[in-house]
Amino acid sequence: MTQNTLTPPSAAPLLSWYDRHHRDLPWRISPAMAARGVRPDPYHIWLSEVMLQQTTVPAVKSYFAKFLARWPTVDALAQAPGDDVMAAWAGLGYYARARNLKKCAEAVARDHGGHFPDTEEGLKALPGIGDYTAAAVAAIGFDRQAAVMDGNVERVISRLFAIAMPLPAAKPLMKRQVALLTPRERPGDFAQAMMDLGATICTPKRPTCSICPFRDNCEALRLHDPEQFPVKAAKKDKPVRQGAAFIAVNDHGEILLRRRIETGLLGGMTEVPTTGWTARIDGETTTEAAPFAADWQACGTVTHVFTHFELRLAIFRASIAGGPGADDGWWEPVTNLEAQALPTVMKKAIAQAIPRAFI
Ligand code: ADE
Repeated sequence: MTQNTLTPPSAAPLLSWYDRHHRDLPWRISPAMAARGVRPDPYHIWLSEVMLQQTTVPAVKSYFAKFLARWPTVDALAQAPGDDVMAAWAGLGYYARARNLKKCAEAVARDHGGHFPDTEEGLKALPGIGDYTAAAVAAIGFDRQAAVMDGNVERVISRLFAIAMPLPAAKPLMKRQVALLTPRERPGDFAQAMMDLGATICTPKRPTCSICPFRDNCEALRLHDPEQFPVKAAKKDKPVRQGAAFIAVNDHGEILLRRRIETGLLGGMTEVPTTGWTARIDGETTTEAAPFAADWQACGTVTHVFTHFELRLAIFRASIAGGPGADDGWWEPVTNLEAQALPTVMKKAIAQAIPRAFI
């Protein structure tokens, strides 16, 4: 492929669209305020961007408010007990991010006097800050001319230039195009405008091209088929792994839970006892792998698709009189499962054995 760079249109129509149609978000400084010289708090930008890598804008709003009420500054977060931060993060998933959040706050407090570095390089040197977060905080927090690219921006840019190369191979080309399009003036507003455009107009299905600020320059629209972009490489079939999960309920209405090891997939999260299933070899699918002998009853299977494989778990349930000791975990009231750091696959496994567990 010989596409090096493609001539970009002006960013001006996008910025004037953003002035009128930006979303009001709790961590965002409106363009009118920004024009009066008000700058966002880089702590707010960093916190929201890390959370936004986990879930949607509506879901982040409540977590963002909860974190700020409890830890109004990066210094406060740096001093917080790690377990409190993990508990506040519960439900957002991927605990490694919560651990890195705390480590990053400590580094900013300890090594930078409580002030985030104001360049992409400086930010990237902090724990847990990768290319995306560094660019987003540099652009939005410090108005640096950094090229910010997330899934929404990839879609906008691939359509604007009708990029035929499939993802993920096209990422470097897309990033170069974002860099070329990013203006010297208002790069922070530009980055947020691209994200808002992708979220509201340049949507994956049925984009509303007639009201798009780029409608006069969009190559995909000129080709009459914006939805064909971004082009994605054909998906390889995912490998299937198997295992078993054991739902033990005692006569106090409690379920046996345990904590996964800190490293690896779903590290540090809560689970019911299971066989191994993240290694290349499958786990056992029979009661031979149960954590203790009991009258285990089969209750079907649950399938869950992870990024790199599909998991099929055989589900077993047993009622335990009294309940044996739980050296390897703890007994949790079934009525309190919503408050646990259970990943979706575990919620599915429990719901298969106890249909009303999450209702
Ligand atoms: N998604 C991720 N970061 C965002 C931001 N700063 N504004 C809007 N949507 C986003």
